[in-house]
Amino acid sequence: MKRDELSPALGWTLARRAERMNPSVLREILKVTERPGIISFAGGLPSPRTFPVAEFAEACDKVLRADGPGALQYAASEGYGPLREAVAAMLPWKVDPAQVLITTGSQQGLDLVAKVMIDSGSRVLVETPTYLGALQAFAPMEPEAVGIASDAEGMDVADLRARRGDARFLYVLPNFQNPTGRTMSEPRRQALVDTARELGLPIVEDNPYGDLWFDAPPPAPLTARNPEGCIYLGSFSKVLAPGLRLGFIVAPPAVFPKLLQAKQAADLHSPGFNQRMVFEVMRDGFLDRHVPTIRALYKAQRDAMLAALARECAELGVTWNVPDGGMFLWARLPQGVNAIDLLPKAVERDVAFVPGAAFYAGAADTRTLRLSFVTASEEQIATGIAALAAAIREALPC
Ligand SMILES: Cc1ncc(COP(=O)(O)O)c(C=O)c1O
Repeated sequence: MKRDELSPALGWTLARRAERMNPSVLREILKVTERPGIISFAGGLPSPRTFPVAEFAEACDKVLRADGPGALQYAASEGYGPLREAVAAMLPWKVDPAQVLITTGSQQGLDLVAKVMIDSGSRVLVETPTYLGALQAFAPMEPEAVGIASDAEGMDVADLRARRGDARFLYVLPNFQNPTGRTMSEPRRQALVDTARELGLPIVEDNPYGDLWFDAPPPAPLTARNPEGCIYLGSFSKVLAPGLRLGFIVAPPAVFPKLLQAKQAADLHSPGFNQRMVFEVMRDGFLDRHVPTIRALYKAQRDAMLAALARECAELGVTWNVPDGGMFLWARLPQGVNAIDLLPKAVERDVAFVPGAAFYAGAADTRTLRLSFVTASEEQIATGIAALAAAIREALPC
C-alpha cells in the first residue's frame, strides 16, 4: 500500500522508506513450498540433518550450570568476549578481537552497514546477480543500487571502474555465491582488491558459505588482502544452525565504532545465551570435525542434482553451472521459456525453485533460476528435477 493510499484520518502515515520495504519474493515462494508434498529447491535453508542438536543440548546445560545468571543477563553490545576471540582466531588473516562485532545473523550485519554507510541516493555497487536479502537490507536507506557485470569468474573489473562513480561501497560474495553458486577466481580477487584500493572504494565482503567447499578451499578472502579497506561479514548459520541467529562483522577502526552504535540502537546486543552456547560448542575444535560432514553431505546432494539435470534437462536446452561448494546451483532455461511464468506450472507438478529475476539490481535475465540442492533428499532431487523437466517441456515454444 502506498503512503497516500493510507487514510490520514486513521493517523497511519508511514515513513517514505517503508514504501521501499517489499515482501520478500523468496518468503512468498516459501509459503507455497510449505504445502505438503512439494519438493522445494526454492528455500535457502540448510539441511536440518546438519544441526548439532546433541552438542547444543549439552552446551545449554553447561552454560546454565557454569553461570546461568550471567548467561541470562543483558550483555555487551560488542559480543561475548571469548566468542569474539574465537572468531578472530578462526579467520585466515590477523584479526584483533576488538574489531569483531557479534551480530544477530549476518543479515543484521548488512542492515548495520546500510545504516552507517548509505544516505538517500548514495550509489552502492553489487554483483549481477546478487543476494536478494542484501538488496532488501539496503533498500530502506534509499540507495541507487548498481549492478556490475559479472561472469563465471566473478565481477568484471573494467565494468567496476566504469560504474564506480561516487559509490559508498561495493558489496560482493566471492565464495559459492547466493544465488549463482559461483566462486571468484584468484586472479579476479586480486584484481578486484587492487582496483578497489586504487579507486578508494570500500568493499563489503559477505562470506556465509566459504567453509562449505567440496574439493578444495576457495582462495583467500578479499578482506585478508586489504583489511583496512574491507568490512567482512560471517555467519554461524550455515556451519552450526540458522536458528541461533548469530553472525559477525570484522570492521576496520574507521567504521567499527559507528557499526557498534548502530547495533546498540538496533537490539542492544545479540542473545548472550546463544553466544555462550556457540562458544561452548566450538571451544574444543568441534567445527573442524563437524564442517567436513556438512561438506560431504552437500557434495553428494550437488552430485545428485547434477546427475538429474544431465538426465532430464540437457536435451531441453537447459544449461547450468557446477558449484564448487555452498548450497545453490544456477540454471538457465531455453530460449522462449521464462522462469517466472514457469514457476506456477512447476508448482502444479509439486516442485518449486526461485526465479532468478529476484536477484538482480537492474535488468534481469528472466531465463535464470536458482536451485538449492541441500534441503531435498537425493531421491527427492531425482523426482523433483524430473517434474521440473516435464514443466519445462510443456512450456517450450512450439
Ligand atoms: C549471502 C548471504 N548473506 C547473508 C545471509 C544471512 O544469513 P544469516 O543472517 O542467517 O547469518 C544469507 C542467508 O541465506 C546469505 O545467503
